[in-house]
Amino acid sequence: MVDMTRIDKNPRSGPNAVEVRGLVKHYGSTKALDGVDLDVREGTVLGVLGPNGAGKTTLVRCLSTLIIPDAGHATVAGYDVVKQPRQLRRTIGLTGQYASVDEKLSGWENLYMIGRLLDLPRRTARSRADELLERFSLTDAAKRAAMDYSGGMRRRLDLAASMIGSPAVLYLDEPTTGLDPRTRNEVWDEVQRMVAEGATVLLTTQYMEEAEQLANELTVIDKGRIIARGGVNELKAKVGGRTLQIRPSDPAQLPAMAQAIREAGLDGVAGAQAVPDEGLLYVPILSDEQLTAVIGLLGARGFSLAHVATALPSLDEVFLAITGEKSSSVTDTTPEEVAA
Ligand SMILES: Nc1ncnc2c1ncn2[C@@H]1O[C@H](COP(=O)(O)OP(=O)(O)OP(=O)(O)O)[C@@H](O)[C@H]1O
Ligand SMILES: [Mg+2]
Repeated sequence: MVDMTRIDKNPRSGPNAVEVRGLVKHYGSTKALDGVDLDVREGTVLGVLGPNGAGKTTLVRCLSTLIIPDAGHATVAGYDVVKQPRQLRRTIGLTGQYASVDEKLSGWENLYMIGRLLDLPRRTARSRADELLERFSLTDAAKRAAMDYSGGMRRRLDLAASMIGSPAVLYLDEPTTGLDPRTRNEVWDEVQRMVAEGATVLLTTQYMEEAEQLANELTVIDKGRIIARGGVNELKAKVGGRTLQIRPSDPAQLPAMAQAIREAGLDGVAGAQAVPDEGLLYVPILSDEQLTAVIGLLGARGFSLAHVATALPSLDEVFLAITGEKSSSVTDTTPEEVAA
């Protein structure tokens, strides 16, 4: 269990929109949820990461009152998932992992019908349907039956449907799986817009890039248990250390620099690799002290440095390290500049 108490993007304060304690759900001998604790602060996005079968959809279904947990406790907007399902449903929106629109109805009819089911007045339901079709670039397809939509169009319609009632809490279960990059970006924009307007989002995903784009905090779940949590950079720093990237003014000095570091035997600095093609020296480090020691050593030896940066491991590498499984996307390492 990797547990972290600091956070990158936002202070960890404010009321929770979602609180989950000791949630358990078994299917026969399968422990789909095996004692899950998590909080989602109001107005933030919690990214729930996990490999196939981790329990993500089961969690979303419990929090949507679609299934009843075997044990534990969960509230959404203060409503208990077991004792107050009706009130709870009025505050949430759900985009399930599998499309849930009515195939025979047109896109517009689907949205209008959901608006009416949510007790919106006719006029409001109509304008909401128009507005959301527009937002998700579906206006041209508004009158076509959903069964004639492409996979991406259906997903967008699904998302629009979950937003009809302007829910305070939105669950997105792998919302962009199977979408092309342009549509994925549209979905991300829309989610960010909802959050800017005050919504709280619980997002499950297997795309690390999506988690990086949208989530304030991450929770990694595997075999029904939380195995790590924290901000994106916290998880990266915790799991993989960093790589120091040093560009000397004179590339010809790379081998001598690597040798100097290896011979100096700095505490905890295992090695240094010169990559002449890139004009860079790579040094794996685990702490700021090691960073300072390496730069100090090179300065003391008279090497002139043109650029220094550190790179965190990619979130994919973090996911692999924590769960032992590959995620569904490849994200490049993100260099963090520390000096020029
Ligand atoms: N209705 C069900 N009946 C029996 N077993 C189920 C049922 N729903 C889920 N499970 C099992 O519970 C575990 C968790 O499944 P869940 O669908 O929550 O995983 P997930 O994290 O959403 O996976 P994926 O990434 O593939 O969507 C799996 O082992 C799954 O086979
Ligand atoms: Mg799922």
